[in-house]
Amino acid sequence: MSTYNLESFVNECRDVMSLDGDPVDRVELLVPAMYSLLNGDTRFLKPEHFKSDPDHYARNAIHIEEDDSFSLYALVWSPGQWTPIHDHGTWGVVGVYEGVLHEKSYFRTDSAGVIPESGIVLARGGIIVLAPGAVTSFVPNPDHIHLTGNPDQEKRIVSLHLYGSAMAGFNVYDRPAQTRKWIEVSFNES
Ligand SMILES: [Fe+2]
Repeated sequence: MSTYNLESFVNECRDVMSLDGDPVDRVELLVPAMYSLLNGDTRFLKPEHFKSDPDHYARNAIHIEEDDSFSLYALVWSPGQWTPIHDHGTWGVVGVYEGVLHEKSYFRTDSAGVIPESGIVLARGGIIVLAPGAVTSFVPNPDHIHLTGNPDQEKRIVSLHLYGSAMAGFNVYDRPAQTRKWIEVSFNES
């Protein structure tokens, strides 16, 4: 086990946020950081980070930076729990700690968001299966539209999610209505 820990990760996030750069530059630097965190000293994960919720996947805060420039959560996915189709409006880095997380992609095929909130035509894309230790990421503009979840019948999934904001909500898509709407989301504070 390497000595890389939560403090190392948060310090690296602060360094990256202090640099000029667009979301792609930040993600490029923070994907290896997430990989190091998953494969390092994970004793920062306490029982409160593994809380689940029978109604929907649980979001347990690990670190929310004081100026809301980035935030890290542990998401706990009980069997059969999925997000709706969504985008985050910001960049993000996701690492799998336990279980196998599934991600399904969507692509906008209408005239590229001239009226972004309506007339949204989505085509289904590929499916990615992320085993423990895997890291994935996304950047906005164009929006990264996806849903993630747990198709397993028995096992939970725990994944670490770093966002380039306080992540107070996300855009949720209604595919038949061809619209999307910003939804506030709640989380458990640590
Ligand atoms: Fe997402």
